[in-house]
Amino acid sequence: MSHAVVEKNVTLMAILIAAVISVAGLVQIVPLFFITETTEPAEGIEPLPALEFAGRDIYIREGCHVCHSQMIRPFRAETERYGHYSVAGEFVYERPFLWGSKRTGPDLARVGGLYSDYWHYVHLMNPRDVVPESNMPSYPWLAERELNPDTVARRMVAQMERLNVPYTYLQIEEQTEALEGKTEMDAIIAYLQSLGTALERNR
Ligand code: HEC
Repeated sequence: MSHAVVEKNVTLMAILIAAVISVAGLVQIVPLFFITETTEPAEGIEPLPALEFAGRDIYIREGCHVCHSQMIRPFRAETERYGHYSVAGEFVYERPFLWGSKRTGPDLARVGGLYSDYWHYVHLMNPRDVVPESNMPSYPWLAERELNPDTVARRMVAQMERLNVPYTYLQIEEQTEALEGKTEMDAIIAYLQSLGTALERNR
């Protein structure tokens, strides 16, 4: 009987549906804020040092994330190819995260240490020089443009003050002073080499 009442009253039905979805959502989402596995950094995870941090910004500016994901799913085909699946604790200082879902190129979550710095340099200057069939664009201007330590410092301060990334002013000052004379190419390679090295890669 009561079911017939709900079926004939759209407003009541809408309210009940909203109630059911809210409870179900809360049950799934709220616990995530209290499980340390999802809120605490995984072992060996630190906020990116200035050079790598600058590289990450360039990675975003150049749209690398449009073709490359940074999220290894817990499936055998993925872990055999890329290494340990990604875990929440690896992303606690990622603002914004770069997981992505579209892979024109391979996942880069654990590309750190896989190739030499020189390989990355040649590959970024012209991918076809090392992978003849590659359709990845060339990024030769990265080697010509110098980093601006002041801009990097201000972006790190913003991450610390606004987004609670645990840097210190001293750390930011020391690390960004060392950026003098470094190119965007140095930064993006350092960033790529830092990716996913805290957990085993097994490849
Ligand atoms: C249009 C899509 C596209 C964009 C944009 C792109 N890539 Fe790629 N990338 C690829 C493809 C396809 C491959 C595989 C062929 C190759 O190695 O060149 C690849 C391969 C790679 C590899 C080697 C990965 C491995 O496991 O062998 C790295 C590192 C890489 N890209 C970094 C970058 C960076 C850094 C940027 C931004 C500056 C970028 N890519 C932008 C398509 C793209």
